Amino acid sequence: MKSFSYKLNSIKKTTDLYLKKVLLNKRKRSNLTHPMKYGVFSGGKRFRSAIIVNTGKIFNIESKKLIIIGSAIECIHAYSLMHDDLPSMDDDDLRRGKPSAHKKFNEFTAMLAGNSLLTMAFEILSSKDLKLKQNIKIDLINTLSNCSGSLGLAGGQYSDLTFENKKISKSKIIQMQKKKTGELFSFCCESVAIIKNLNKKKRNNLKKIGLNVGLLFQITDDLIDYKGDVSVVGKPTKSDQKKGKATLVNLLGYKQTLNFALELKKKIDNDIIKLGPRTKDLLEAVNFILKRKF
Ligand code: IPE
Ligand code: IPE
Ligand code: MG
Ligand code: MG
Ligand code: MG
Repeated sequence: MKSFSYKLNSIKKTTDLYLKKVLLNKRKRSNLTHPMKYGVFSGGKRFRSAIIVNTGKIFNIESKKLIIIGSAIECIHAYSLMHDDLPSMDDDDLRRGKPSAHKKFNEFTAMLAGNSLLTMAFEILSSKDLKLKQNIKIDLINTLSNCSGSLGLAGGQYSDLTFENKKISKSKIIQMQKKKTGELFSFCCESVAIIKNLNKKKRNNLKKIGLNVGLLFQITDDLIDYKGDVSVVGKPTKSDQKKGKATLVNLLGYKQTLNFALELKKKIDNDIIKLGPRTKDLLEAVNFILKRKF
């Protein structure tokens, strides 16, 4: 039996092949190509791609489609990290064991390469490579814009930064984390419902599962920030405390946060099992979230 890491690596390879095809398109080369490649190919886990591939598997969706949509999601993720590290945001100089984009290049390059990766996601979803009906593509584009914008990732990042050094309640922290990280994960699951044209109830159910997967992912990121070693994690650790970030770890402590995460994982597992057969790979992916060291 192949391990989850082996399967994740194979999803990473196929996603990277597609992203290379898009980024290395000769007609599209620009001064920003190099920093965009730096942002998107500098060693990410491609875990969001794994969530969409493994959710799509449950519903028998062709993997090529899932890899293309996963590539779009990874572009948005890469943009969000380039901006997240900027001096005006988290001000972090290390990302995936390498200098952050604004350190490698400069601030305006990191900002503009980030913007370009964000728009590239929509270029990918609207491209001819993605063989889906127009109305489905429009729904995917509309949903992904909502998940990334002021009601989703960007809005969540705004709250994350404005919450620094303030006393914020547990429910507000959860709400903020569901936005900044959960919404992109929710798209990984909801996009499958869009492709399959599932009814509203089933679509909402998948969206909610994705939101919780994203919340679990962010809480684990915060636990890793607290306990991890910078040489393994590849980005600064102990930084959430220094910055006075509103995290469950800072509010409740490590142990209580870990218990909260374990309970949340149980709920996610139960919800996934109800989706029917072929859920093994998605369950393995969720299991990886808490087991990972970086
Ligand atoms: C880090 O995400 C930022 C969060 C939303 C917690 P990942 O841990 O997925 O980052 P990479 O892409 O693998 O570096
Ligand atoms: C970032 O959260 C979430 C994003 C949407 C970018 P963090 O600020 O905790 O991510 P890291 O720890 O820098 O990767
Ligand atoms: Mg941040
Ligand atoms: Mg950060
Ligand atoms: Mg973090």
